[in-house]
Amino acid sequence: MTALSKELPIDMLYPLNEAALISKTDLNGVITFVNKEFCRILGYSEEELLGKTHVFLNSHVHSTEFFQAMWETIARGENWHGEICNRSKSGQLYWLNTSIFPILDKTTGQVQSYIGIRFDITEKKRLESELQSQKMQYDSVIESTDGFWQLNSEGRFIDVSECYCRLSGYSEKELLGMMISDLEANDHKGDLMYQISTLSGTTSDAVNSKVFESMHQRKDSTHWFVEILISYYPNHNNFYVFLRDISKRKLNESEQSALQQQLNHLQKLESIGRLTAGIAHDFNNILASILGYNELNKYAAEDMPDSSLKTDILHNSEQVEVAGSRAADLIKKMLTYCRQDEISKSDTTIELTDVLRKILVMLQEILPSSITIETDFLENTYVTIDETDLYQIIVNLFVNARDALNKTIGTIKLGVSLVDSPPQVCSACQEKINGKFVEIKISDSGSGINADKLSRIFEPFFTTKEVGKGTGLGLSVVSGIIHKMDGHIIVESEIGKGTTFQLLLP
Ligand SMILES: Nc1ncnc2c1ncn2[C@@H]1O[C@H](COP(=O)(O)OP(=O)(O)OP(=O)(O)O)[C@@H](O)[C@H]1O
Ligand SMILES: [Mg+2]
Repeated sequence: MTALSKELPIDMLYPLNEAALISKTDLNGVITFVNKEFCRILGYSEEELLGKTHVFLNSHVHSTEFFQAMWETIARGENWHGEICNRSKSGQLYWLNTSIFPILDKTTGQVQSYIGIRFDITEKKRLESELQSQKMQYDSVIESTDGFWQLNSEGRFIDVSECYCRLSGYSEKELLGMMISDLEANDHKGDLMYQISTLSGTTSDAVNSKVFESMHQRKDSTHWFVEILISYYPNHNNFYVFLRDISKRKLNESEQSALQQQLNHLQKLESIGRLTAGIAHDFNNILASILGYNELNKYAAEDMPDSSLKTDILHNSEQVEVAGSRAADLIKKMLTYCRQDEISKSDTTIELTDVLRKILVMLQEILPSSITIETDFLENTYVTIDETDLYQIIVNLFVNARDALNKTIGTIKLGVSLVDSPPQVCSACQEKINGKFVEIKISDSGSGINADKLSRIFEPFFTTKEVGKGTGLGLSVVSGIIHKMDGHIIVESEIGKGTTFQLLLP
């Protein structure tokens, strides 16, 4: 105390003495003075400290080089400032913001002793390290996700992570000027704003979170699936959003479900085929016997003397014949459908437009005059297909178009061209297709097909026509032949506008 009071005015000494840990040492670092605060913080009595060096307060937090540099500085007569961690008597660590002042002899200018003034910054250091570890945790969480945003209640960005910038293709600067809806794919616009409005609508003070999936659009307009965890912090009126790229998972899911659908479809067709074959075969035998006995009845009646009974029997047997021939037609259709497996791939190549013109001449017979046929043919187009198969296909599609026009005035267009198909899915077999094809296109301006029926039109026996008018086998046969030729079918339809069948042949 005496040493300091000689050099400092007394009114400045008091607050300093209360706030700081003050000590004085000789040139060897042996403590010659400590104030009360020094003893209080480090837990030693004055007696325990005097005559000792600072070494026994060493926390081993600092290196030898650290103390060496400090000693070199003060031994040169220069002041030293730094943060030192000391160990108290109870073993607790204290961080002290320390300044050491060499005291010089006024006459010789030589260092005589050192005065240390320290302030306890342990609490500040603790907060700093806590903050640092929180920041590290926060950074590692953000790094482990594919994106992080902080949003205000209007859905504007306050913060975006580097990773999201990388994945979305936008710079941080661009994103900070955007709304979240700018990042959502068209069908998903408003997903996040909707979640924001439901989360911020709660009255509770608690943090509220939700997880949902959405589709986003990158800067280059490509789409990606994201899983979003959004949390609302009512006290800040802010939203914290974590995103995960789930595009791969979604792609696998959709590929698997498409494959499963295709498999189910094939299994269904196979069992229908087997059933149909069985029925057609047995029914054919029964029909043969019905028609045979009918024939015998007819002969017997013809030998009868003329009477109204004879006339009636002959008339009835004629009706049996008419119905029988319709049944035989049906069986023929059923057998055609079932025997598709047996159809071998044609090896005859035909010039398409030539054959189509011939078929059109025949078709004029069955189409009413209210229907106009328009053609647009690319001449000299060759495909490998059996002529009778092509006839079956075109007649089936024209009859369907005629029925869709339902006696109203309308047009059926028939076109032949070469196309480069974009990636799309065959309407009948659901396989992904693209590449170059010969296209036969049949469009009508008829009733159109609604979406839930459109997915079923290739199913065998699916018909919307009244009993006796349609068997629902026409398109099954068409699809069977086209696929036998390694071709595919794309159907587009709009209610009230009409339907287009694109037959794509390799
Ligand atoms: N061009 C079209 N316009 C509107 N609906 C159509 C068209 N083509 C087919 N359809 C619908 O698809 C169903 C199935 O057609 P499909 O040719 O397989 O059987 P169908 O015509 O009902 O009977 P079938 O051809 O065996 O006599 C039809 O009943 C009809 O509802
Ligand atoms: Mg039909």
